[in-house]
Amino acid sequence: MKYSRLVYFTSVVAMLMVISIAFADIPPPPVDQNVGLPDTAFGEFTEPECRECHSSGLVDRHHLLIGEGYTCTQCHDINDQGLEFTRDCLACHHSSPHHVTQAAIDRICTDCHGSIIDDYNDGHAIPTYEPSLVTPSTSFNNQSGSLKIGGCEACHEPGGDNIHSNQATHHGTGLDCNLCHSGDGGMLDIRKCEDCHGVRSLHIIQYDYNNTEGMDGYGHIGSNWDCWGCHGWYDLYGVASSTNALTSALSILGDSPGGDLIAPTIYNITNPVEEGNIATIIGIDFTSAQDDASPDVTVLVGDKEIIPTTVSDNEITFNVSESPGNYDIYVKKTLGDDSVLSNKAVMSVIPMSEMELLIRG
Ligand code: HEC
Ligand code: HEC
Ligand code: HEC
Ligand code: HEC
Ligand code: HEC
Ligand code: HEC
Ligand code: HEC
Ligand code: HEC
Repeated sequence: MKYSRLVYFTSVVAMLMVISIAFADIPPPPVDQNVGLPDTAFGEFTEPECRECHSSGLVDRHHLLIGEGYTCTQCHDINDQGLEFTRDCLACHHSSPHHVTQAAIDRICTDCHGSIIDDYNDGHAIPTYEPSLVTPSTSFNNQSGSLKIGGCEACHEPGGDNIHSNQATHHGTGLDCNLCHSGDGGMLDIRKCEDCHGVRSLHIIQYDYNNTEGMDGYGHIGSNWDCWGCHGWYDLYGVASSTNALTSALSILGDSPGGDLIAPTIYNITNPVEEGNIATIIGIDFTSAQDDASPDVTVLVGDKEIIPTTVSDNEITFNVSESPGNYDIYVKKTLGDDSVLSNKAVMSVIPMSEMELLIRG
């Protein structure tokens, strides 16, 4: 399947580097790939594939680890020099490196994925009332022709060359079956999925909320059509038509229960960046919130919370006052005592250049 991999990675680069994204299928299925981390269905990457995502700052990121106690010869063999030395990630790393990390083993999936999901141990509520007609299924509650209604598969169906089935994306992580399949309601119990896809995180997912509020098919809370995709049980809208007159006339389920904040996604960050310089973060939904609320937006840089210099829905800039090293970066949105985090990005801070030191005296 070499071909489909190539096609897939072309779109990952686009996803990470381009902010204006063309939509293939609105309304879904299948859904776009703009929110959260790129969808992937296999756990075996090659070096060029690793570099599609780890596309900048990687040399410095390795060498900044010297400050944490690594020595040259731990990574570079004395005999392994000149043109011969290895740059192949797989000589030193696992070919599926992300889901063998300590955070993944500890099931703290938010560490990289952010608030687009919940953690099993964060105390989030999972309903205990009896399942009913509006309870979403892991797949779908009903089918009308090719249209599926009432579950994840209503929209998250495989399609094109690079959108995979939900079992393929999840099984590709190589994680323990019981993380996702040991619910009281049997093998495919939606309440088990709610360990990670809780009521809160499911209802704060929307691509570019400021521009898609009220529209069908851009996320989970744009319109009533979206609600029906998960909560429905018959073909309310005729043939999945988003322009059906019923769309605007119905408000069956009331307000969504996730709070006003929308989960932000980071696509890209300046990397590496010189100490004392300005870093830029590109992404979506940095400021958006339901009900026109205006959240406080901050950047988590390692252990510190920083107030950015400039903030817009797609771009944040901030001054880098950290000393050289690698820092975990998250965008954080806060409204009262409610807050959400983006996915994680890593920024490598390198020492100021001679030129910069001269200029600054
Ligand atoms: C689809 C995009 C993507 C691909 C492909 C990818 N990575 Fe990553 N990788 C990420 C993101 C996002 C993170 C989390 C942020 C970070 O640490 O940079 C990450 C984190 C990591 C980490 C840090 C894990 C930790 O301990 O926190 C390592 C090591 C890594 N990747 C190595 C690799 C290697 C080796 C490959 C190829 C075999 C690869 N990655 C392929 C996106 C990708
Ligand atoms: C944690 C592992 C690690 C350590 C420690 C490390 N290196 Fe590297 N080094 C790498 C990797 C990986 C690359 C290739 C990165 C790439 O191709 O993107 C690299 C690349 C290089 C390069 C090529 C630079 C370039 O721009 O491509 C040189 C030169 C180098 N290392 C020298 C050193 C020396 C000297 C030390 C000790 C002071 C050292 N490295 C310590 C992992 C390491
Ligand atoms: C010569 C061995 C070597 C090669 C080649 C190499 N790495 Fe690494 N890399 C290491 C070591 C050792 C570490 C530090 C231990 C760790 O975190 O896994 C590291 C750390 C990392 C980290 C940061 C993890 C952290 O804890 O912050 C990332 C990301 C990463 N490597 C990605 C890559 C990618 C992508 C490639 C290929 C382009 C690559 N590495 C090639 C040895 C190597
Ligand atoms: C070290 C960072 C990291 C951690 C921790 C992590 N992931 Fe991921 N995850 C990634 C990256 C990067 C990708 C895309 C590349 C890949 O598939 O490895 C990904 C992809 C996925 C995908 C497929 C993508 C999609 O949108 O469908 C699923 C499912 C997933 N992860 C589940 C989990 C679960 C469950 C956990 C916790 C047990 C977890 N991840 C922890 C980094 C991480
Ligand atoms: C009404 C259509 C619809 C239904 C039904 C649906 N989703 Fe989504 N979902 C979307 C859209 C649209 C996006 C945003 C895609 C984008 O732009 O990246 C999305 C994004 C997501 C994301 C963010 C990460 C990603 O890979 O894009 C998660 C997690 C998610 N959905 C989980 C679920 C789960 C779990 C279910 C079933 C309980 C479900 N969805 C049912 C339409 C739907
Ligand atoms: C990270 C979560 C996750 C893990 C881990 C996981 N699954 Fe799944 N599994 C899913 C999802 C999501 C689906 C799709 C459910 C649907 O569409 O109804 C699925 C579907 C299935 C199905 C029914 C569809 C099919 O492919 O036949 C079976 C059987 C299954 N999984 C078995 C397993 C086994 C066995 C393991 C362990 C080796 C495992 N799963 C690990 C999430 C997971
Ligand atoms: C252990 C945590 C965990 C469990 C349990 C879990 N998922 Fe996921 N799921 C994830 C992560 C992480 C992602 C990727 C989010 C991202 O793109 O950053 C994801 C993404 C999704 C998406 C979005 C489409 C996609 O492929 O990205 C759907 C749909 C989904 N999950 C369905 C399910 C279903 C159905 C179940 C139960 C059978 C389930 N998940 C169980 C962690 C989990
Ligand atoms: C991605 C799938 C999905 C979408 C889209 C979705 N929901 Fe939900 N919703 C769920 C799940 C799963 C539950 C938990 C059901 C259960 O376990 O019985 C839930 C629960 C609820 C609840 C009950 C909350 C509680 O605490 O028990 C309400 C109210 C609700 N949703 C309203 C909405 C509205 C309104 C919309 C559209 C704006 C919407 N939902 C869109 C998946 C979704």
